[in-house]
Amino acid sequence: MFAQTPIRDGVDQYERLAPRYDRLHHRWLRHAGGEAQAALEALVRALATPNSKLLDAGCGTGKLARTLIAEGMSPQLMTLLDPSAAMLARCADIPVPKMQERLEALPFEDGAFDLVTCVWALETVPDPFLALTELCRVVRRGGALCLAFCADEPARGLADGLMRQALLYRGTGRFLSRSRLMRAIESIDGFEVRAIPSQGPASTVLARRTGAVVQAVTKPKVEPYPPQHGDQ
Ligand SMILES: C[S@@+](CC[C@H](N)C(=O)[O-])C[C@H]1O[C@@H](n2cnc3c(N)ncnc32)[C@H](O)[C@@H]1O
Repeated sequence: MFAQTPIRDGVDQYERLAPRYDRLHHRWLRHAGGEAQAALEALVRALATPNSKLLDAGCGTGKLARTLIAEGMSPQLMTLLDPSAAMLARCADIPVPKMQERLEALPFEDGAFDLVTCVWALETVPDPFLALTELCRVVRRGGALCLAFCADEPARGLADGLMRQALLYRGTGRFLSRSRLMRAIESIDGFEVRAIPSQGPASTVLARRTGAVVQAVTKPKVEPYPPQHGDQ
């Protein structure tokens, strides 16, 4: 429902990509996603307190955690999660708990974290809607979910356009509809959502879980992600 093209499970690809990931990702950030990444990091800096429990879900090689720790955030209350052992192995220098798990089945209790980040990972999972529901579930009341993702927005120019084509060709992700994604979060009880403006085919979204009494997060009624011909 969020994207034009379905995707198969991408974990194997990231297993293979891990040694080259930082170099390729740097290119993406330089040409297309840098503004959205900067907006996401600014959000986390603004929202985090010394006592914030933070989950970075789909952490990859640990770029965000490394940045935050270098800026003085304590690693003590951070958790990194990714299903790819090879990506997690590249986080070995980061002194935080690491879990080899998936976004679609987070092994945490409801409301376990003050801050949940998911950076360029939602678009790599076969069912981003299920992943989003799980991410929202583990945010505590008064806490927040910060997302950066490849978005189905117009390219600014040649570099953006080429990056988009390269990513689609590699099959490591796709471009999600920001408005649909925001509507899906809004349909979950107790969440307020806003997009942080940036240009190009990338987006940053902040979803805050209000302090009001909320019911358990259940799967909201929106159209399911449609299977397409050739899908397995
Ligand atoms: C484009 S990388 C982003 C990594 C990191 N967040 C960053 O900012 O560089 C996508 C990550 O999502 C992970 N991933 C793929 N499928 C996943 C899933 N089902 N659940 C959680 N993470 C997943 C991949 O292993 C990979 O590390």
